[in-house]
Amino acid sequence: MSIWHLAGGRPLRGSVRLQGSKNAVLPVIAASLLCPNETELINCPRLSDVDAAVDILRYLGCAAEQDGDTLHIDTLAPDRCDIPRKLMHRMRSSVIFLGPMLARFGEAQVSVPGGCELGQRPIDLHLKALESLGAEIREEEDSIVCRAGKLRGAEISLTLPSVGATENAMIAACAAEGKSVIYNAAREPEIETLQAYLRALGAEVSGAGSPVICITGFSPRRAAGLRVPPDRIAAATYLACTVCAGGEVRLSDAVSEHLRPVIAAFEKMGCAVSAARDEIHIASHGRPGTPGAVVTRPYPGFPTDAAPLVMAACLRSRGSAVFIENIFESRFRHADEMLRLGADIACRGPLALVTGVETLRGADLASPDLRGGAALVAAALGAEGESRITDAGHIRRGYDRLDENLRALGADIWCE
Ligand code: EPU
Repeated sequence: MSIWHLAGGRPLRGSVRLQGSKNAVLPVIAASLLCPNETELINCPRLSDVDAAVDILRYLGCAAEQDGDTLHIDTLAPDRCDIPRKLMHRMRSSVIFLGPMLARFGEAQVSVPGGCELGQRPIDLHLKALESLGAEIREEEDSIVCRAGKLRGAEISLTLPSVGATENAMIAACAAEGKSVIYNAAREPEIETLQAYLRALGAEVSGAGSPVICITGFSPRRAAGLRVPPDRIAAATYLACTVCAGGEVRLSDAVSEHLRPVIAAFEKMGCAVSAARDEIHIASHGRPGTPGAVVTRPYPGFPTDAAPLVMAACLRSRGSAVFIENIFESRFRHADEMLRLGADIACRGPLALVTGVETLRGADLASPDLRGGAALVAAALGAEGESRITDAGHIRRGYDRLDENLRALGADIWCE
């Protein structure tokens, strides 16, 4: 078990270059299966979720090797089209391999990804989208079997703008005959990255970033490359850590445009945030104010993944803040852990009311999930004395060297 130790009370100073985006790179790794090719991904973060995706590719008979920040993938000769339970369960987003496998092999068998830390995460929209493209899907006790003689272009209307279902549909539609249109598509920046990669693979895709995406043709290419864009949630994490610990931090290789509602929340809290073309600078000293209400919504709304981080920054605020979670059913599992630090939080269903306290005290904490774990790190940086965070392996799923980067900024943090 991975355990992190932190001693709070030291302001952060300096600069951090942001890692590549986890949620952008994972669907791209899956999409590399679409046709026989060699892909080079630059600025690929080193994370256990990326390791899990690489292990799936290797299990399928592909080659993949990460060399520093570059991931080389060779999908010239895969030799199987199933993903066993052990691999599916290492990463919730493994379901994103379904569309590419169906497109490449005409069949796919995966184990059911199951519910997770954030509550039930159904995959009905993924399956409906693939069915619209002509797949026959059979759900067995613990597995999903998909077959498609030939995928046909279709109009796909998503009842929710699901990020994963949009990605699965975009990838599978590349291999379909004729035009496909996805309505009510997710608009997250990660969808634009996937569009860029699919175009590099030879697909005609347009509309990413809007609610309507069109896929009209595919002439497969043998090589493709992409630079993974910066991780907007990692950016929100460093901003929250700076507010909790106090100090001044510059984030380089950042896209402030992708973080508008998060930056607005920190500005409302009285932090000085300035954004240049590819940099964000934050300064925060003493107890912050409150952002008022933080309501999570699909992009371009406030991102659900950043809510635990802003909540951490509110624990010592002067006033109260209300958090309303509209995406996942169990987003606030870190709140019980924050209470151990002396925080004042009342949760009821999708609502959490946080009333700032003057002082937090270090405590023994357990990381409940990826973003909840990162939020505990931020909160502990603002607490007096030492904290110990168990189950910190969750944090490695999504953060590349968070501990090292925080140490370089002056935090007292070490890992067992
Ligand atoms: N949903 C359904 N049916 C489906 C798919 C989704 O009901 O078939 C529901 C979900 O239960 C949820 C909502 O739709 O209530 C949105 O889920 P979505 O499919 O958009 O999320 P996802 O694709 O599973 C991605 C990110 C998450 C991020 C969400 C929302 C990746 C790998 N994961 O998940 O990131 O929170 O979008 O923005 O891209 C994280 O990085 O920590 C993380 C959880």
